[in-house]
Amino acid sequence: MTEKKAKLVIGDKEYEFAILDGTMGPSVIDIRSLYSQTGMFTYDPGFTSTASCDSSITYIDGDKGELLYRGYPIDQLAYDSHYLEVCYLLLYGDLPNKTELEEFENRVTRHTMMHEQMHGFYNGFRRDAHPMAIVCGVVGAMAAFYHDSTDITDPEQREIASIRMIAKIPTIVAAAYKYSIGQPFVYPRNDLDYASNFLHMCFSVPAEEYKVDPILARAMDRIFTLHADHEQNASTSTVRLSGSSDANPFACIAAGVACLWGPAHGGANEAALNMLREIGTVDRIPEYIEKAKDKNDPFRLMGFGHRVYKSYDPRAKVMQESAKEVLDLLGVENNPTLQVAKELEKIALEDPYFIKRKLYPNVDFYSGIILDAMGFPTSMFTAIFALSRTVGWIAQWKEMIADKQKKIGRPRQLYDGSVKRDYVPLDER
Ligand code: CMC
Repeated sequence: MTEKKAKLVIGDKEYEFAILDGTMGPSVIDIRSLYSQTGMFTYDPGFTSTASCDSSITYIDGDKGELLYRGYPIDQLAYDSHYLEVCYLLLYGDLPNKTELEEFENRVTRHTMMHEQMHGFYNGFRRDAHPMAIVCGVVGAMAAFYHDSTDITDPEQREIASIRMIAKIPTIVAAAYKYSIGQPFVYPRNDLDYASNFLHMCFSVPAEEYKVDPILARAMDRIFTLHADHEQNASTSTVRLSGSSDANPFACIAAGVACLWGPAHGGANEAALNMLREIGTVDRIPEYIEKAKDKNDPFRLMGFGHRVYKSYDPRAKVMQESAKEVLDLLGVENNPTLQVAKELEKIALEDPYFIKRKLYPNVDFYSGIILDAMGFPTSMFTAIFALSRTVGWIAQWKEMIADKQKKIGRPRQLYDGSVKRDYVPLDER
């Protein structure tokens, strides 16, 4: 078989670069020797055409609207599997058998409590601190508590750090919520499944018994599964870049939390619900559609558009069905926010502006409606996204650390600042 090559012509010189094929998706031009051969860099702000690594965890076909975790379609996993099984799949590459799953669940549940002293960190935050600020700080603080799992050259320690992170993140996020409403922290219950335990830690109080509704727990589990990984998005790339310097694993995850917070990324779920509420009624939708299309107005339809999906986000489909189920269960008929969301989606999808740019609802468009119906304040939405994505960050971080080709990430730049000049003393300026 002849090796495929890409040719680059600069002036009268011709250079050749190997073309590498994955198992699916676009091939890549291997430009690792570009600088040494030509003395030039590539220029790709926002990485719109750059593969930063090879990975066998998650695959997205943006044109088809397909998302696969280790080859399995996201809708099958959301409907037929459950979050901890999906965590196993993402971390170890294959679905577990019964014994493997039991053993994994057992390992996770044995690590659900956070170090008691970590509760002290919460008191350092103002009561009205955003939960993402608290989660970012407390996750980073884990680096100061679990010294026996920070030698990243030891696979066993990497494994313990991973399990600790997945096990403790619901406890950390739930405590951020309890702190914000002035209620005592609720300890995890290991007889509950992952999603039920999270709801228990968020909504139960010592004064009375709390029963987790299985339909809400299922919806929560589905939200976790749908957000579990999404290949090399901004926060995952942040975790990989931080980890590429062999930094402490907990600090790397804290970096991922920080990146996720932005409204162009995970913060969009909070922004989307706020936007739907601001629109309020169906008759105001055209006004907001016009704002979104106006190039002089910075407003964007939150929960719409995606760098990779140029068709319906497959997660949004599941999320829309889940929203209906949850609202039916809670007896919320004709929820005005859901009405606005559905009508907004319909109008936007028929509008030439959105059709031309292939802008469809993304995962964040409907998730807020479900979380709101469950009783979460909007400020918790992105923290719940962070909880769900922790396994993806960990799986990607582990994959990178185990990769023999790993190098510290070090992008270059096109410098357009001042040329060299001499310092001018203050009194001569
Ligand atoms: N509303 C109105 N116009 C939009 C929107 C939107 N939500 N998204 C993109 N556009 C327009 C944009 O103005 C541009 O138009 P033109 O070509 O005329 O200049 C065109 O579509 C392409 O946009 P872009 O900003 O170059 O695309 P991008 O791939 O850099 O951005 C995005 C992707 C997700 C940041 C963007 O679509 C956006 O800001 N969406 C709203 C925020 C959001 O929902 N984010 C969640 C993403 S999914 C979950 C996650 O990743 O965490």
